[in-house]
Amino acid sequence: MTAHSETGHSGTQQGATNLMTEIKLGPAANIPAGQGRVYEVEGERIAVFRTRGGDVYAVQAECPHRGGPLADGLLGGTTLICPLHSLKFDIKTGAALFGDCGLKTFPVAVDASGQVVLLR
Ligand code: FES
Repeated sequence: MTAHSETGHSGTQQGATNLMTEIKLGPAANIPAGQGRVYEVEGERIAVFRTRGGDVYAVQAECPHRGGPLADGLLGGTTLICPLHSLKFDIKTGAALFGDCGLKTFPVAVDASGQVVLLR
């Protein structure tokens, strides 16, 4: 009868508190405002965008339509246009704005030292 009363790094998800891992991706300044950059995190390619307002958002790197490079898309506010066939997405929610396939989003933030931190 062993009770797990301590919080640890077990990685189990019980929907409770902060059991997420923080992964530092480097300085937010590496991403020019209004653009995106691709990072590979644990084998998964993730596009991180920095809006002109300074907010950061992370979505899957490949367009769900035909694999277009979303980090090379055109960003206006939080609206992203895929460079290949112009489907539109909201990078904040992942919702499709033009087209019918949405994006996977990832929680991301900029910490006090200006590093982009992805939460997994
Ligand atoms: S690959 Fe993105 S719109 Fe076609």
